[in-house]
Amino acid sequence: MTTALAPREELICTSVEWACRAPSLHNSQPWRFVYDSAGLHLYVDERRLLDTTDPTGRQAIISCGAALHHLRIALPHFGLAPTVRRFPDPADPSLLADITFDRVEDLDPRDAALFLAIEHRRTDRRPFRRPSEVALHDLDRAARRHGATMTLLGPEARDELARASRTSAALHRYDPAYRAELLWWSGHSRDDGIPRNLLPAAVDGPPAVEIARTFPAGTLEADGDEDQAALGVLSTCTDTSRDWLHVGEALSSVLLEATALHLATCPLTHVTEVPASREIVRATTAVAGSPCRYPQVAIRFGGPRHPPLVGQTARRSVEDVYRVR
Ligand SMILES: Cc1cc2nc3c(=O)[nH]c(=O)nc-3n(C[C@H](O)[C@H](O)[C@H](O)COP(=O)(O)O)c2cc1C
Repeated sequence: MTTALAPREELICTSVEWACRAPSLHNSQPWRFVYDSAGLHLYVDERRLLDTTDPTGRQAIISCGAALHHLRIALPHFGLAPTVRRFPDPADPSLLADITFDRVEDLDPRDAALFLAIEHRRTDRRPFRRPSEVALHDLDRAARRHGATMTLLGPEARDELARASRTSAALHRYDPAYRAELLWWSGHSRDDGIPRNLLPAAVDGPPAVEIARTFPAGTLEADGDEDQAALGVLSTCTDTSRDWLHVGEALSSVLLEATALHLATCPLTHVTEVPASREIVRATTAVAGSPCRYPQVAIRFGGPRHPPLVGQTARRSVEDVYRVR
């Protein structure tokens, strides 16, 4: 995906392809990009919302925020320094950002490392080793730069997050619309959704990772050792579309920083989808010192304990998400 001395439109199209490597809820990729004489415009694609899992579109906008951060990291690599205006048109809430460009003077070495991490980041649903405290400190800083708070949870809080996870699973279990959506988005080989080879295989007894969304069984094997992942929660002090976009950018930043530190990562949102479990997460982060009332995304981080995941999740082709007008 590299281009030497290509015209600007081609560089922008290439940067959009890199942006699309961002994580999204169930790999739904709910974004679309339009380029015109005023710059590049990022929209949430309302045809790709998960009506039951994400009725307010909160996670779709978080996903778009992750794509926006990936884009901001990719553009300088192709010589373009972005300026971003978030929610530029009050009359059109689906327009999340306008991006204009200058020439890059100096490439920030940190951003260069994050650009390399885009290619290596994966959502890994297997157990991890405990990461070092130093690494966790770096991740906390990455979240703050994007206007979100990341609360790291200690061992006591872990039990509470496990309780939130069980609460969410119990409520989802008897929700046919949620289950239908989950089946639609998982276990297939398409250019979206989560393929079977990245979903944990069925096991006798409790799952290898206690704090995880329950997906249909896949073929991903893991050893039976206890998950020692560190747990962080990204929260905001209000719960608006603007907060969700910022959380997505913070999520992308934290995941790419973690990848650059050779940590494995997995975002988790089943615990913030259902009011009863979101309240448990809110109370837990408050006890852990979070000043913010709205937990948005939990993240597991850790040293990898297994061989790297094979391949990448697929993405829709750039023609499906990007157009020039
Ligand atoms: C808003 C959001 C919510 C997510 N929620 C979960 C989740 O609850 N459980 C999970 O295993 N992965 C979750 N993911 C990860 C996606 O499934 C993953 O990004 C997608 O399948 C693409 O795979 P990749 O991250 O390896 O590129 C979430 C990602 C985002 C951005």
